[in-house]
Amino acid sequence: MAGNPRIVIVDQDFETRAELQKGLAKSRFIVVGGVGYGAEALSLASEIKPQAVLICVEEPTARALQTIEQLTGILPEAAIIAYSSLADSDSARRAVIAGARDYLTKPLKTDDVIKAVEMGLAQQERRRALLTGEQPAPVRTGGMIVTVFGAKGGIGKTTISINLATAFQTLGVGSSVIVDSDTIFGDVAMMMDLPVETSLIDATRDIEDLDRDSISKYLIHHPCGVAVLPAPFEPTDWRNVPPESMEKVLSLLAQTHDFVIVDTPGTFTDLVGVALEKATVILLVTSLDITSIKDTTVALKLLSNGSYSEEKIKLTVNHATNVNSVKDTDVGKVLRQEVFWSIPHDEEIGQSAQIGSPAVIDRPDSRAAQSIQELAAVLSGYEPVPVEHVAARVEDNGGGLLKKFIFRQ
Ligand SMILES: Nc1ncnc2c1ncn2[C@@H]1O[C@H](COP(=O)(O)OP(=O)(O)O)[C@@H](O)[C@H]1O
Ligand SMILES: [Mg+2]
Repeated sequence: MAGNPRIVIVDQDFETRAELQKGLAKSRFIVVGGVGYGAEALSLASEIKPQAVLICVEEPTARALQTIEQLTGILPEAAIIAYSSLADSDSARRAVIAGARDYLTKPLKTDDVIKAVEMGLAQQERRRALLTGEQPAPVRTGGMIVTVFGAKGGIGKTTISINLATAFQTLGVGSSVIVDSDTIFGDVAMMMDLPVETSLIDATRDIEDLDRDSISKYLIHHPCGVAVLPAPFEPTDWRNVPPESMEKVLSLLAQTHDFVIVDTPGTFTDLVGVALEKATVILLVTSLDITSIKDTTVALKLLSNGSYSEEKIKLTVNHATNVNSVKDTDVGKVLRQEVFWSIPHDEEIGQSAQIGSPAVIDRPDSRAAQSIQELAAVLSGYEPVPVEHVAARVEDNGGGLLKKFIFRQ
């Protein structure tokens, strides 16, 4: 699916159409039109070829149901979502038989609409992949664990963790929880302006009794809905925590949340080892100063010695400072690793952290927040990697001076 998905709204009622359109303006969707049933809907749909259609079904329902059937004929790959004030199961059934993927009852909540469209798109994508014989995205039985890892401090790991978790939540693609595994300098709670009463260490201490329900008492919630399992308020010796306990904590959180984001310290500890092992995706963060890149070569070596599959390591360049001595593409060449994502330098992201509010909420239009929102969309499987984020692959002669500098070490 190239670019942001387009949605057509089919509703005779101008006011509902306008309200829906207004609600969706903050989502990643582009609402390209709102029209009435029949020919009007069909001609707009065949011209615009939307990825999703929101269609109102009210009494008398015949016209709306017929339009759904006709739309599935001309847009076999689109997700058609019906909504109605008729809450009985028969009406819902009729809409689904006509070809709707989902049926929402009024009053509509924007978040529910976004969620329904996202799910419809994902379902259609899996169907398309199956039909064309492509490898469909693996169906996970639990949440996705994203470990945000890097070889040193000050490169933006915590900033990325917080904003990524928030973006998953605000995009409506699922619930998210951040685990702060920096048991000495952990600052996730502080950067989200949350009080720390219990921590990751407390959860691992009560490991025997910990289950899907009881783990929730160790979580604190940001008003945006993101849950946080914070690091202890006082620096704690993580060496007392058995790796199996950390493993259990992550497994339970992945059973209860769609996205588990693990923020890590700048050092390699046993807890980090578990977080890397359990990760669905490792965001290997580097900034663009030469020491960070040098340390990232070491981190990559470390990862290649571990049992981590190469596909799950995603090199993420964060322009944490504006004194960048090298270019993104050179980093890719030197590290012999494709750059998966690049987050621009943006003072606004730091300013938001200062007031304890993720930039994704506080300054959603800032460049770094936009980039992290796109990253969340890609990781959640609804967007392919946009071309501008993909750096050149390794070339034999790439890297020049920088390469010599690093490989001399
Ligand atoms: N893309 C960026 N643009 C500008 N400043 C950034 C960016 N990413 C991070 N920062 C700033 O860099 C500093 C270190 O970030 P932090 O997330 O605490 O790093 P780490 O967790 O790796 O130690 C913070 O002041 C943060 O605001
Ligand atoms: Mg940090």
